[in-house]
Amino acid sequence: MSRRIKIFDTTLRDGEQSPGCSMNISEKLKMAEQLEKLGVDIIESGFAISSPGDFASVKGIASVVKKATVASLARCLKKDIDTAYEAVKHAVHPRIHVFLATSEVHMKYKLKMSREEVIAQIREMVAYAKSLCDDIEFSPEDGSRTDPDFLVEAVQAAVDSGATTINIPDTTGYAVPEEFAELIKKVRSEVKGIENVDISVHCHNDLGLATACTLAAIKAGATQVECTINGIGERAGNTALEEVVMNLKTRSEYYDAETGMDTSQIMKSSRMLSRITGVNVQPNKAIVGENAFAHEAGIHQHGVLANRSTYEIMTPESVGLTSNMMVLGKHSGKHALQDRLSALGYKVDGDELNELFNEFKVLADRQKCVSDNDLVALVHKSEVKVPEKYIVDSFVINAGNTISTTCQMKLRTDDGRILQTVVASKYGPVDASYKAINQLVNGESFELEEFMIDAVTGGTDAQGAVKVKIRANGRSYNGYGLGLDIVAAAINAYVSAINNMVYDEMLLENGETDV
Ligand code: KIV
Ligand code: ZN
Repeated sequence: MSRRIKIFDTTLRDGEQSPGCSMNISEKLKMAEQLEKLGVDIIESGFAISSPGDFASVKGIASVVKKATVASLARCLKKDIDTAYEAVKHAVHPRIHVFLATSEVHMKYKLKMSREEVIAQIREMVAYAKSLCDDIEFSPEDGSRTDPDFLVEAVQAAVDSGATTINIPDTTGYAVPEEFAELIKKVRSEVKGIENVDISVHCHNDLGLATACTLAAIKAGATQVECTINGIGERAGNTALEEVVMNLKTRSEYYDAETGMDTSQIMKSSRMLSRITGVNVQPNKAIVGENAFAHEAGIHQHGVLANRSTYEIMTPESVGLTSNMMVLGKHSGKHALQDRLSALGYKVDGDELNELFNEFKVLADRQKCVSDNDLVALVHKSEVKVPEKYIVDSFVINAGNTISTTCQMKLRTDDGRILQTVVASKYGPVDASYKAINQLVNGESFELEEFMIDAVTGGTDAQGAVKVKIRANGRSYNGYGLGLDIVAAAINAYVSAINNMVYDEMLLENGETDV
């Protein structure tokens, strides 16, 4: 019987640490729900002590996730462990993930601790965490650059003190697959009692070897792997979940191992993360890139038409991509839309379907046919909806290359007030409208950090997708707008980012996380 490998997803912790990938509480909750649908075994939902926002997200995720284990990271310190436990304690399956560096370079320069002190702290803090929670993971940080004999000693201390998972991190992405596999074998053969705990690996991609090292470790006996959607994470990122999972599925006989993932949810998870963070994957990214299943060369197309297995080692359907045989247009009905969405992995019904159908009709009226990309963009637009403090009521823009642009902007607030102003700008419609919005919400303080605009499909009638990031109080907030009119999309994106910020700050102020 093949071994069952546990998937520990750290998109919301290590992944979120990568530049540009920060998420607010509502976005993290949405992502956590999707990770459950994908079937991950453990969701590392944050580093509870690192900020009030992280604490609130971990606590919120712990209260909504039912099947997966919910973990919080903690340094090997009592206050970290207490805070992590406080955040996860109401989860159905809580876990505290404690780490302490064990490499010479980290002990000498970062921790300023001797080997003996490190071992004593592991013993004391793992035992303390165990007194609060049954499920304890311990990571000797920079494990791959640790003296292997000392690594065994550190792991032994953690196992003796009650750790139930031992994670060997390749913190700096330095490991070579064969060498890393040997290290896992050494830990497996020399640590007493290791057969009763999971051995996990956590690899970074600095040399592009994260997935290779992770798979080599599985071959060598690891039973848990740590990874992120789209491979996001510190510096060059972490092992990409989709790569490990599809390797195990495609080469299951070689690895003699399997996961419990519903792989048809992979594309949806990848797109959701890109949509939320505004960070797209490169087109040639394995499994989830735009070109991963596209055959361009004539000789390849010929082969695939004759028999798909000539150039395809896995089917697009297995990761949630479907080939569209039916064209949706303005004569298509609600059922056709629902069927197509369901083939794309989105189960939509009731009010949500009605709302999408209305938007679909507007789009189909203006575009000849509505593509899968258009549909996915429409669904994602309404994905992370927070209560709106500000609503765009109307705007009028007067622009041209011989006049300075003016924008007349009217916003409605959730308590029924109408705010309006007129603003001029020499930099065009987006600048004029953003200045007008700034004036109207002048009680809020933030700055625009990023603005991106993308066409969903080709053609001048394509929908424009606008992503913005604003920054306030050291946190970033995303906003998303979609529409045939790109200025309207830009305005909606900006207002949605402001609403995200206002809602997140309100949650933090009230200490509310069960949203
Ligand atoms: O890369 C690393 O070592 C980590 C640990 C905290 C597991 O992220
Ligand atoms: Zn890491």
